[in-house]
Amino acid sequence: MDVIEIIGGKPLKGKVRISGSKNAALPILASTLLTNSKVRLTNIPNLSDIFSMIELLKSLNVKIYKKSNYYTFKSDTPKSLIASYELVRKMRASFLILGPLLSRYGYAKVSLPGGCAIGTRPVDLHLDGLKRMGASFAIKNGYVHGSVKGKLKGTSINFKKKSVGATENLIMAATLAEGKTIINNAAQEPEIDDLCNFLIQIGAKIKGHGTNVITIEGVKKLNGGEFGVMPDRIEAGTFALSVLGCSGNLILTGVNNEIYKHLKDIFKPIKLLKLKKIDNKSFCIEKVKNGELNLKITTKEYPGFPTDLQAQLTSALLKIQGFNEINEKIFENRFMHISELRRMGAKIRKKGSKVEITGVKEIYGAELMATDLRASSCLIIAGLMAKGKTIINRVYHLDRGYENIEKKLKACGAKIDRIKK
Ligand code: EPZ
Repeated sequence: MDVIEIIGGKPLKGKVRISGSKNAALPILASTLLTNSKVRLTNIPNLSDIFSMIELLKSLNVKIYKKSNYYTFKSDTPKSLIASYELVRKMRASFLILGPLLSRYGYAKVSLPGGCAIGTRPVDLHLDGLKRMGASFAIKNGYVHGSVKGKLKGTSINFKKKSVGATENLIMAATLAEGKTIINNAAQEPEIDDLCNFLIQIGAKIKGHGTNVITIEGVKKLNGGEFGVMPDRIEAGTFALSVLGCSGNLILTGVNNEIYKHLKDIFKPIKLLKLKKIDNKSFCIEKVKNGELNLKITTKEYPGFPTDLQAQLTSALLKIQGFNEINEKIFENRFMHISELRRMGAKIRKKGSKVEITGVKEIYGAELMATDLRASSCLIIAGLMAKGKTIINRVYHLDRGYENIEKKLKACGAKIDRIKK
């Protein structure tokens, strides 16, 4: 089990290339099940979640080859339409194969993903939407058995709450359904937009993606094609917040205008942080001054402040003078990192769905335990800011969503190493 070792207190200065987006790549990989033509994908990040999805797709008879900087996929008829607990428990986004399998083959047996460190993570919105399209489900021994008589039928779906995964599952299912599907109250994350752009590239008929009403006209068959996955806005936001915590300045490359505008918008209240566009694929982040912050930030669906940056913001604020409040409104238990930060001397109070952070002069290195993906990047930021040595255990959480983060930080002056235990 590797650990990450950090000697804190250094400002960050340098250039970071942002990797392809995990949360765009995962649904796009799942959607390769929808066509039996060859698909070529570039900018797929090297992450354990991606490798888990690839393993699952291979078990469903998708032929996958990795070349230099791209993958090719060809989905032949699977021998079995089962996604085992063994594979799904490792990565809950495996549930995104349900829509494609039902739409293409009319049957799927997928393990219920179960909960995780940040919440119960139900899938009722996925199943209710697919039922409205004609699927029927039986839940037995922790598996969802889904089946359709004939083809899924297009219909209107009104999500009672926004869900990224449910929106993605229904879009994929609707591409090969009979007739038109209208999804109301669709989630609007850019990763969904990327999925739709890929599906259109291989012949799907989709309109309204990027808004909260998405219309999909079912087609008989999808084709092959080539597509480059968008950059990872959460990785970019994580590096931006590490500058807020550690001072210095970073240039992020391999990004796009949408990510620049989104981060500029959500970081607007953070007056100490300045983002400046360099060109269409890069921008720089600088902590322009020290001073006081008294923020009240609530996590929201896109385009609001992302829940996936909540833990990283908490760390970045620990040594900033003032009293800051973050309200986590998306997941019910996304505060597993708080107790670890307190062990470093952070002054944080948890009140229901809110955390209240009082800035302290110093925090101190400690041996810590990562609990989930974004919590592990928050502990890295805290370690970079702390006086002395920090050791972070269970870095497998980190490897799910960050490609070589310790190498990228080391190249910007951080004293950070991955130690093989
Ligand atoms: C996606 O998860 C992301 N994962 C998450 O990123 C992200 O935190 C989340 O969206 C919110 O933005 C991927 O894209 C692979 P949701 P997802 O369905 O689709 C409730 C990371 O760190 N809900 O939008 O699972 C749910 O409990 C990960 O990269 C239902 O009630 O999120 C939550 O409270 C973590 N019923 C809220 O909706 C359902 O059927 C939002 O969940 C589905 C969800």
